Amino acid sequence: MQIFKNKTDLTAHIDHLKSEKKTLGFVPTMGALHQGHASLVLKGLENNDVVIVSVFVNPTQFDNKEDLVKYPRTLEKDVVLLKNISEDHIIVYAPTVADIYGNDISSTSFSYDGLEHEMEGKFRTGHFDGVGTIVKRLFEIVRPDNAYFGEKDFQQLMIIKKLVEKHHIPVNVVGCKIHRASDGLAMSSRNTRLKPQYRKAAPFIYKTLKTVKQNFGTKSANKITEWVKKEFAKHELLELEYFIIADVDTLKTVKRKSNKKTYRAFIAVYADDIRLIDNIALN
Ligand code: PAJ
Repeated sequence: MQIFKNKTDLTAHIDHLKSEKKTLGFVPTMGALHQGHASLVLKGLENNDVVIVSVFVNPTQFDNKEDLVKYPRTLEKDVVLLKNISEDHIIVYAPTVADIYGNDISSTSFSYDGLEHEMEGKFRTGHFDGVGTIVKRLFEIVRPDNAYFGEKDFQQLMIIKKLVEKHHIPVNVVGCKIHRASDGLAMSSRNTRLKPQYRKAAPFIYKTLKTVKQNFGTKSANKITEWVKKEFAKHELLELEYFIIADVDTLKTVKRKSNKKTYRAFIAVYADDIRLIDNIALN
């Protein structure tokens, strides 16, 4: 498997692949790879000759310094996971911060037509400027035909689609289903940092979302939201940051349901000091 540490070498290799008319899939990640990431890579391999996986903990998208410092960095293990999927058709790009940012570790400011003001944007100041900055830069370096993003970060997926549309970036953005552990917890690199009792408690998040989905047809969004708040208020280990039922196009909180619209429920929860997010399609 080829592993590139700098964009000059990667660019030369990509030029070569493009001259051979190979189709390129791209899976941007921050590493600490798990089966959720693997599902994106597998999807990419179905539709492209080569899949490039970037592994880069992007400093500009962390609003919390401690989260950045503690973010797991496991490149050797990540490479093993990818090798087990395919030695020949996957390329890894694991740059240094300097390779991406030079001396200026800062983000550009982006407008995503209001999507950035909801949920994660509200609770993580500057987060989506950091995401837009890194993903746009990576798109420029990798120049993929198709790029794969998980619905686990549904708002991020919508924001990337908006970024591509507004900046006329020639890439097809593909959304991929949420991959879950057998007990329902959405896979996340942060799960490895959960203490055992918190890991045991965390499937409560998806269990609650499933009940929300069951009740969505008969109960109002307001009633459901109040119920979720109460459920978490009673919980001894998990602390709710937000629960929102939103229109998938605008990501704005639903006031009155309409048959013509598509809704999803979004949740962010603290398990100890680890922040977990999840979401579910409702109709
Ligand atoms: P990271 O959290 O590593 O996630 C990389 C990709 O994997 C994202 O598109 C994310 O939605 C997807 N993913 C994570 N867990 C998943 C799961 N359980 N099921 C399906 N997909 C899952 O998201 C980022 O990194 C960064 O913001 C990045 C886009 C790389 C920019 O730095």
